[in-house]
Amino acid sequence: MKSRLRPGSGRMSLLVTAGSTREKIDPVRFISNYSTGVFGYEIAREAKKRGHRVTLISGPACPEPPPGVKVVEVESALDMGRAVKKHIKKCDCLIMAAAVSDWRAASPSKRKIKRGRKNKKLELVENPDILRGLGKMEKKILVGFALETERLADNAAEKLKKKNLDLVVANKIGGKTSPFGRNPTEILMLDRFGNKSILRNRTKRELAGVILDKVSELKLDNKFSV
Ligand code: CTP
Repeated sequence: MKSRLRPGSGRMSLLVTAGSTREKIDPVRFISNYSTGVFGYEIAREAKKRGHRVTLISGPACPEPPPGVKVVEVESALDMGRAVKKHIKKCDCLIMAAAVSDWRAASPSKRKIKRGRKNKKLELVENPDILRGLGKMEKKILVGFALETERLADNAAEKLKKKNLDLVVANKIGGKTSPFGRNPTEILMLDRFGNKSILRNRTKRELAGVILDKVSELKLDNKFSV
């Protein structure tokens, strides 16, 4: 497959995912997580500002879309997986900032589930891992995120390897640290060459710039012959 980069231009076609996914239980309830989408949206915004072509695949209830960015709205992990597969073909890089739900209800009910039945159990099935499912796509830069309560560096290294990523951005959650919303954030970045950096107490807007600098750096190495 040929690189879509114009030689020397540095302009890329980026696919960014953001926000949570919602997994339906019945017509009024769902399984989800606390992700607000801010990080992915800041990355998309900054990338657009830098002149890259950006497609943003967004889970529900996210911020205002950044100007000029094409937004594809999805609800569930399965929807997000389909959208990624469709749009990645035209992209140089996928930045998977979405907090994809790992599980969905095995059989969502078409009718509202009523109170009163005892021992109600919700059966869950695992969602496919979107990033891992892509494998090592030749000439695509794959960036994953990792949200961890412990062993931040070890878990980041494991995810980089297991999902065959070029870069992993890990944030810690727990204690006084919440990575959700517009809070200042600490990240650990680990690339496929083993280079590690820790950035503390930065806004997501600043971190978006740092991540995009790193992606441009990775793009210049052996994956692309520009
Ligand atoms: N991810 C994905 N598909 C999933 C779950 C996660 O593509 N079904 C992506 C996320 O968007 C993120 C990375 O994989 O970029 C890591 O997600 P995370 O939830 O931290 O890790 P998991 O692989 O789900 O592992 P665990 O929840 O057990 O830590």
